[in-house]
Amino acid sequence: MKLLVTGGAGFIGSNFIHYWLKHYPEDSIVNLDKLTYAGHLSSLKDVSENSRYKFVKGDICSQKLTDSLMVDVDTVVHFAAESHVDRSILHPSEFVRSNVLGTQVLLESALKNKVKRFHLISTDEVFGSLPLNSRTKFSESTPYDPKSPYSASKSAADHLVRAYFHTFGLPITITNCSNNFGPYQNPEKFIPRMITNLILNQKIPIYGDGKNVRDWLYVEDHCWAIDLIVHNGRPGQTYCIGGQKKEFSNFEIAQKIIKLMGMDKSMLEFVADRPSHDRRYAVNWSKVHRELGWSPAKNFDDRLKSTVEWYSNNKWWWMPLKKQAESIYRK
Ligand code: NAD
Ligand code: TYD
Repeated sequence: MKLLVTGGAGFIGSNFIHYWLKHYPEDSIVNLDKLTYAGHLSSLKDVSENSRYKFVKGDICSQKLTDSLMVDVDTVVHFAAESHVDRSILHPSEFVRSNVLGTQVLLESALKNKVKRFHLISTDEVFGSLPLNSRTKFSESTPYDPKSPYSASKSAADHLVRAYFHTFGLPITITNCSNNFGPYQNPEKFIPRMITNLILNQKIPIYGDGKNVRDWLYVEDHCWAIDLIVHNGRPGQTYCIGGQKKEFSNFEIAQKIIKLMGMDKSMLEFVADRPSHDRRYAVNWSKVHRELGWSPAKNFDDRLKSTVEWYSNNKWWWMPLKKQAESIYRK
């Protein structure tokens, strides 16, 4: 397979490139990334010399560039996006540009070049928020109800991708996944922010009452789900991907991290809540399990432990990013 991966210098994209090069020795990857604040070539240091991997610095909104990159490609895996909710509250227009316009530009190129599969990485945040203490979960049939500029822009992208399937017959698939965690995640996001703050002996800020719930998906499990769907998922279909069977609040996750790092609760600090903070996300991933045999390979506590270890052992990667990551929260 010849793949075009967009946003491959970001968190999930870089993990995906590592995963794919390891599992598919016959395949080659072109990684198109603009290298925004969230893109780091350091995340791809160990594959940069691989003859099956090529990096192109550029914007997914440039039609000329995306047309030319897709000439010799059969599969597009589209990760590139502005991805951080807190930033979308500060700068919504960048989210519309990259997430909506950028996706449409890629779809046009995919159509012109007759790619065999266009796969969009989307989010469970398009479905809005679930109440606490309910058993309801998001599934492929949940109506869209985005609440932040980020989730609204991702919703628009999902609709465009489906429209290119219905209108033009482009063979697309979409995954709506829950919150990922693991190596190479920017320290502005919850789990790496908690771990890296504690390594630096700084308090960890919990928004609001700390009762918000996310469904944590280990990034390598997510990459395996994308692999199964790109190879065997049905064109036109959406698959929801989630991580957990048991739910934990942000407060409980913070406590687990504190314990794993041998510290105590005095490191916790409750801070002002995020505006329009979605209360609970939970994903029903029975479709991908039933159709393609996917389920998370290990439990959450094991994955959290290895994530803490990764950040402890890879300060060279996150230390240069930490100052900028914290500066967004001072605004
Ligand atoms: P990220 O912010 O870490 O990486 C995004 C990458 O896209 C960066 O490398 C950035 O430079 C690149 N990019 C942004 N705009 C671009 C543009 N206009 N042209 C080219 N490249 C551009 O994001 P992530 O956490 O790896 O998320 C990847 C995808 O998965 C996103 O589409 C996001 O919406 C989705 N997603 C992420 C999560 C999560 O928990 N991280 C959960 C659900 C869905
Ligand atoms: P985040 O990683 O920003 O992902 P998302 O907003 O896309 O779900 O946040 C995960 C949860 O953690 C969310 O409920 C907000 C909360 N949070 C904190 O309590 N403190 C923090 O410092 C951050 C970054 C997030």
